[in-house]
Amino acid sequence: MPRDDSQDLLTLTDSRTGRSYEIPIVDGTVRAADFREIKAHEGDFGLMVYDPGFANTASCRSAITQIDGDRSLLHYRGYPIEELAEKSTYLETAYLLLYGELPSKQEMDEWVRNITYHTYVHENVKKFMEGFQYDAHPMGMLVGTVAALSTFYTDAKHLEDPRSRDIQTQRLIAKMPTIAAFTYRHNRGLPYVYPDNDLSYTGNFLSMLWKMSEPQYKPNPSLERAMEVLFILHADHEQNCSTNAMRSVGSSRVDPYSATAAAAAALYGPLHGGANEAVILMLNRIGDKKHIPEFVKRVRAGEERLIGFGHRVYKSYDPRASIIKRTADEVFELTGPNPLLEIALELERIALEDDYFIERKLYPNVDFYSGIIYQALGFPVDMFPVLFAIPRTAGWLAQWREMIEDPEQRIARPRQVYVGPGRRSYAPIDQRG
Ligand code: CMC
Repeated sequence: MPRDDSQDLLTLTDSRTGRSYEIPIVDGTVRAADFREIKAHEGDFGLMVYDPGFANTASCRSAITQIDGDRSLLHYRGYPIEELAEKSTYLETAYLLLYGELPSKQEMDEWVRNITYHTYVHENVKKFMEGFQYDAHPMGMLVGTVAALSTFYTDAKHLEDPRSRDIQTQRLIAKMPTIAAFTYRHNRGLPYVYPDNDLSYTGNFLSMLWKMSEPQYKPNPSLERAMEVLFILHADHEQNCSTNAMRSVGSSRVDPYSATAAAAAALYGPLHGGANEAVILMLNRIGDKKHIPEFVKRVRAGEERLIGFGHRVYKSYDPRASIIKRTADEVFELTGPNPLLEIALELERIALEDDYFIERKLYPNVDFYSGIIYQALGFPVDMFPVLFAIPRTAGWLAQWREMIEDPEQRIARPRQVYVGPGRRSYAPIDQRG
């Protein structure tokens, strides 16, 4: 790279050769590719950086979500999460994530109209879902069904066409609650409820979940608002495991339905979106406040993980956890308390005073309290990751679109440090030791 005198530089010396190198620093980063010039000998591939789990690797430049893990800060396109949770709706926040600005009145009306237009799924999607086992995990059904959407919308492969990208975006955001609600009704052996396009995004979701024989379901406005807040909080979280899956799979230029299914599969894992389910299972196992000290002892001994605690980026209180805690109080006023809340509050109190957690900067994350609210709202635990996937779809798509439009992005293809055997010769089976 040509030298620029005003540029910040990292100067290093390779002890193998004694040669020095100057590597430009831009936006607090060095380019890994610049290290390739550092070679031990002619014909050497060049120095690589080794970073399992991408703990200190920026994989993209992004203008969508900003997190400052030390200051408990989370912004979508510059707007603090606290303000959005208080004043915005999920669909408005989704628009902001996707298009970079809050919509005008006219843009918002058109956006809501477009999403509402796409809420129905093809009858064959419904039939496809009916084929799942009666007790299939809803997240497995969601992953499979979202992948199957790519067979219904073959125009989705025209990634180079911004209009096509917009339509697939609208379809995915619109259909996610429908598919999610169908998974729930399927597990209950209840007839699937078609979307009610007179209701809000979250009101319609609640209707598809809970409607029975009444002509029109009327969502409770406070619960509808609580769902909006939960959806806003989960809408994006920069380069987490599932978003990285969305970008990585999408970088092969596969259609967005297949990439979203891959992202949802990543979200399913207990260390990511499955954590809220795992929190409830953990609290049930603890069972009583008096068992907490014993549980914490096992965590300290490395025999357990305190699920819902710790984060790769937040080394202080997850700002989403603070908002969720407040939302929990509002929900419990309507639904009555969840007995697990008492255990969770006490567990948090004890953990935050414990050296093990203090030293490692482990604080409650978004999942510590979200499951308790979902349970109070009447959701079974295996629906929890599905409730995370619905709103995160906006974030995945915003990140996917940014990746597609970024000329610097290429197919995601990491390197490896090969540590296996050197060349050896094949031996017939009867001559092997
Ligand atoms: N309980 C006990 N110890 C923990 C925990 C925990 N929840 N989280 C981290 N640690 C310890 C870990 O054992 C390690 O200790 P040591 O240095 O002695 O080996 C140290 O803290 C650093 O942990 P790490 O595993 O290197 O941290 P990470 O950045 O790789 O993992 C994490 C982040 C979220 C996977 C992890 O904190 C965890 O497993 N938490 C529980 C699962 C959970 O709540 N996941 C939801 C994350 S938030 C929702 C989302 O965005 O998906």
